[in-house]
Amino acid sequence: MNTYERAVSLLHSVKHKFPYFDIPSLQIGDLTVKLPIVQGGMGVGISLSGLASAVADQGGIGTIAANGIGLLEPDYFKDGKAANIRALRTEIRKAKASSAGIIAVNIMVALQDFSQLVQTAIEERVDMIVMGAGLPVKNIPVAQMREAGIKAVPIVSSSRAAELIFKMWKRIYKDVPDAVVVEGPEAGGHLGFSEAELTDPAYSLETVVPQVVETLKPYSEEFARHIPIIAGGGIYTGEDIYRIMQLGADGVQMGTRFVATHE
Ligand SMILES: Cc1cc2nc3c(=O)[nH]c(=O)nc-3n(C[C@H](O)[C@H](O)[C@H](O)COP(=O)(O)O)c2cc1C
Repeated sequence: MNTYERAVSLLHSVKHKFPYFDIPSLQIGDLTVKLPIVQGGMGVGISLSGLASAVADQGGIGTIAANGIGLLEPDYFKDGKAANIRALRTEIRKAKASSAGIIAVNIMVALQDFSQLVQTAIEERVDMIVMGAGLPVKNIPVAQMREAGIKAVPIVSSSRAAELIFKMWKRIYKDVPDAVVVEGPEAGGHLGFSEAELTDPAYSLETVVPQVVETLKPYSEEFARHIPIIAGGGIYTGEDIYRIMQLGADGVQMGTRFVATHE
């Protein structure tokens, strides 16, 4: 199945099960995402320009993952940082050349070259930078991102982390992020959940999404803008999308589902 067929099948499954549910677009500031589906960044070469542009073309957000992106460059083991920067630049340019849709970059906060990768994404004018695997609080070039019209989106797995990020942003930058990705324990890729937490309902997406909705309310009011929540982790079908949106999510982030597409 290619990405187009995957998108059509997901939408049909929503329409079939919930005929009265109008699939809303996802609004992130002035960015309108026709389908409320963000393809999650998948590192080490899994989500590159091919997948990101295919998803963006279908009206979702396509994400290039920066983590280990330079591995296929000939000099990666000599100068990994230079290889990563070059590969990221190339992949963003390729994605933007093949789609007029929305392209994001996923950059893990824990990466040694986090700041340089963010600079590259800004220079290449991506639409959105998604920052996970750590708390994106310090050394975020918020003013520069605002000037370039790039959306800043942290990934959290708890309302505590969301609160901390928003509190610190407010203090340091007098600003708050544009949206939040809430990743539950079922998310693919490497996450920090223990085995017990994986099945503990306290950590489930269904528990955490409504908590993050509450956490963000005062910030939405203070900064006079809606801060959308994008829920990810174990979302596979249209029914899953519907259910989590009923709990307050404005959109979803999906990774595993896209791994098996041609792109
Ligand atoms: C193979 C794979 C690699 C991933 N790599 C990253 C990554 O580099 N950075 C990141 O923030 N998330 C990463 N993720 C998480 C995804 O962006 C997304 O949040 C997650 O896949 C959503 O859950 P799902 O797989 O159940 O759809 C990865 C996921 C998968 C499946």
